[in-house]
Amino acid sequence: MQNNLLAQFEEYLNNNLPTSKSFHPIFEKALQDMLHAGGKRFRPMLLLSVVNSTNPLLLKNSLSIALAIELLHTYSLIHDDLPAMDNADLRRGHPTLHKSFDEVTAILVGDALNTHSFNLIANAPLSSDIKIELIKVLSSDGGIDGMIIGQAIDCYFENTLLELEKLEFLHIHKTAKLIAGSLKMGAIISGLNKKIQDDLYSFGIDIGLLFQIQDDIIDETMSEEEAGKTTSNDEAKNSFVNLLGLSGAIKSADKLALKCENSLKSFDIELQNGLNLILEKYLYRHK
Ligand code: IPE
Ligand code: IPE
Ligand code: MG
Ligand code: MG
Ligand code: MG
Repeated sequence: MQNNLLAQFEEYLNNNLPTSKSFHPIFEKALQDMLHAGGKRFRPMLLLSVVNSTNPLLLKNSLSIALAIELLHTYSLIHDDLPAMDNADLRRGHPTLHKSFDEVTAILVGDALNTHSFNLIANAPLSSDIKIELIKVLSSDGGIDGMIIGQAIDCYFENTLLELEKLEFLHIHKTAKLIAGSLKMGAIISGLNKKIQDDLYSFGIDIGLLFQIQDDIIDETMSEEEAGKTTSNDEAKNSFVNLLGLSGAIKSADKLALKCENSLKSFDIELQNGLNLILEKYLYRHK
């Protein structure tokens, strides 16, 4: 079932890649390269599995919203890798965009994927009320109240050790909010009530924080080939590994994974089963 969902998403993505018709010799290719390169598609799969397990008739109409989230996430990665940010050379098993093309192209492709994600939502085959709610979530969790402020803090406080509470603020904003927002957007599309939307959102914050702790562990433990991206790159960062040590980070990932397993049980059985198919691959990926 989940393979089928992922296959549907990949097919939709391939048929709906952003295009740019002009005499610019490479911009369109650059726009599509990082989307083609792959990635786990974690966030769109979360959205699609919420819709699929609660209102499957809306699955097809939600594919462009799932794509919107993946575009916004991909933009965040392209900018994250820029020399001014993390200065990374490898992403999704390929040279980063500023390496295969140049910095200007990478900056503008990021900008284009960001704005195009909202264009996709505006044009989705859903009611205007729903689309406004979706735009509110994506612009906030992927924007100044989410990913952007997280990234700003992440970069500003390089080489300055943050205490645990601030470290959590950083990672919740940088990574967890977009993941939580993906679940919530699925709930909005399906018309689930506010209580379930909020429960899914706070569950997503825990999942997202776990995802980032694991990402920090990957930076420490995996080769570039294994990770498909530049690793050993967090030396100056307020990563969980730098603050807690590798075994401390693994312990805190274990603890959070257990908490997530338990919270998952509070959702109704269809939602549990649908989410579990995705999450079982991730909950203990730090092992
Ligand atoms: C990497 O995200 C950046 C983080 C927020 C941790 P992913 O690990 O989801 O990257 P892709 O999409 O699979 O390439
Ligand atoms: C990036 O976090 C989070 C984003 C918002 C893109 P990282 O800098 O740890 O992500 P990787 O390790 O480069 O994928
Ligand atoms: Mg970063
Ligand atoms: Mg990075
Ligand atoms: Mg990382």
